[in-house]
Amino acid sequence: MKRIVISNRSGNTGKSTLAKHWLKPRMGAGTFCVAIEGRNSTPLAYADETIRHSGNSLYDTLEPILIRCRASDTPLLIDVGSSCEARVTDFLLPVHSFIDLFVVPSMPDVKQIHDTWVHVSHLLDQGVPAKKIVVVRNGVEYDPECDVGAYEILEKGASDLGYSVLSRPIHWDVFFRYLYGRAETTGEMARLPFLTVPGKPAVSEDEAYDRKSAIEFETMFDRAYAGLQNLVKAQA
Ligand SMILES: Nc1ncnc2c1ncn2[C@@H]1O[C@H](COP(=O)(O)OP(=O)(O)OP(=O)(O)O)[C@@H](O)[C@H]1O
Ligand SMILES: [Mg+2]
Repeated sequence: MKRIVISNRSGNTGKSTLAKHWLKPRMGAGTFCVAIEGRNSTPLAYADETIRHSGNSLYDTLEPILIRCRASDTPLLIDVGSSCEARVTDFLLPVHSFIDLFVVPSMPDVKQIHDTWVHVSHLLDQGVPAKKIVVVRNGVEYDPECDVGAYEILEKGASDLGYSVLSRPIHWDVFFRYLYGRAETTGEMARLPFLTVPGKPAVSEDEAYDRKSAIEFETMFDRAYAGLQNLVKAQA
């Protein structure tokens, strides 16, 4: 899993959130992360490079990065913002053999599920092998009674067409909204100490609560990443 593209033509499915907190920190030291965004977007702080794609050729921007990462065997994560997904996908598809995994997150929302289906179908139609495509259920309620059947069409498609739906979900949590404006990753937050001097809290009660949440998220992310690795192993 050296080179991962996270994409979905649907907006707000959690691509950048998962790239920053889930994938990049687990892909190994030195992972180079590229965010491809619309012309007016602000650079994404977690990305090593933000390409503001405005209709000009991606060959000038993305291609040298692909070549450099391949030559130096550097892990590469590409987060494709939905506003430029069509062009980026068209650029990437001819070189899909260079990409190990296409991760496609979707929340259990009717429009997102529909768009995800169209997105995955497009990848398959363009020749991406089904075993390289993994749908990730993001924003799933903790209560297992909720969201039952929401992903049915994507699961049916997976069993018919051979792509995967990751069994471990990423849950919906208001903590993500809070994380959105913060520079740290959940991993960085989780590693901060609770206590500097024994018995004397180093942080306020609110901060301690955030760190506890970050630690819980790290467990969820670790499990989901292990699930991703197992899928890749099983498909190899
Ligand atoms: N599991 C989750 N639970 C709650 N909120 C979430 C979750 N995942 C993402 N979000 C929130 O959804 C919003 C959109 O997330 P994000 O920017 O990662 O989406 P995106 O797919 O990258 O969007 P775009 O297509 O515009 O690039 C953010 O406010 C983020 O905090
Ligand atoms: Mg994004």
